[in-house]
Amino acid sequence: MSIPDPRPIRAETKMPKHVAVIMDGNGRWANARGLPRTEGHRAGELALMDTVAGAVEAGVGYISMYAFSTENWSRSPAEVRFLMGYSRDTIRRRAAQLHRWGVRIRWVGRAPRLWKSVINELRAAEELTANNRGTQLLLCVNYGGRAELTDAARALAEEVERGERTARSINEKALARHLYVPDVPDVDLLIRTSGEQRISNFLLWQLAYAELDFVDLAWPEFGREQLWERLLAYGSRQRRFGGAVDLVEPA
Ligand code: FPP
Repeated sequence: MSIPDPRPIRAETKMPKHVAVIMDGNGRWANARGLPRTEGHRAGELALMDTVAGAVEAGVGYISMYAFSTENWSRSPAEVRFLMGYSRDTIRRRAAQLHRWGVRIRWVGRAPRLWKSVINELRAAEELTANNRGTQLLLCVNYGGRAELTDAARALAEEVERGERTARSINEKALARHLYVPDVPDVDLLIRTSGEQRISNFLLWQLAYAELDFVDLAWPEFGREQLWERLLAYGSRQRRFGGAVDLVEPA
């Protein structure tokens, strides 16, 4: 099967600057094939790489991937162990390839509880790709939207405690400066696979005006072509950011 040319997508659509992806359905995809859930995560790595390749080819500026949430610690110890080890190995295996594609890798999440070896791989990948000017790949590992907002609130409270600001000076801009990657723009398009229609504590602040796209495929069935299809669909949506347009002419 030939892969379609992404150039028309670059040229013709309103391209989202920031795409966020909830890679859901690995376990169910595997179980439906009589395989253990871990095989679904293995297939998920290929889907991740193909999707990032598609983002690079289409010229997407930022792509956030939800790899491990602060709630995923409640999975069985065996699955948590697998996901930690597999995340570490995936980053180690793929960093050089992503670097060749000009991708800048950044980790988004909290350090406590996360395996040191995972943090080390994330830091090494960040360092390797720090000067790349292509697509930014935000790997959300041990990430939770509420945790991020709580951390931002705490940082602001500490500034007040130290006398560096007054409580009255706290506004949206001040809070946004304390997000994990404050220079990254808000999400334009959220894609979630597996047919579930939930946000699951992902990028709560950044998703405020995002277009939500729930796709009826398991994550291992997703890839660059599916991404391009979603980018085209995004291009035909009308975003209003709270504004309104009167479609009826006044009498
Ligand atoms: C969701 O499927 C998927 C995950 C929780 C893990 C995704 C991780 C990878 C693809 C590995 C790559 C990681 C990095 C850091 C590069 P699910 O288990 O929730 O599936 P289910 O909804 O069918 O149970």
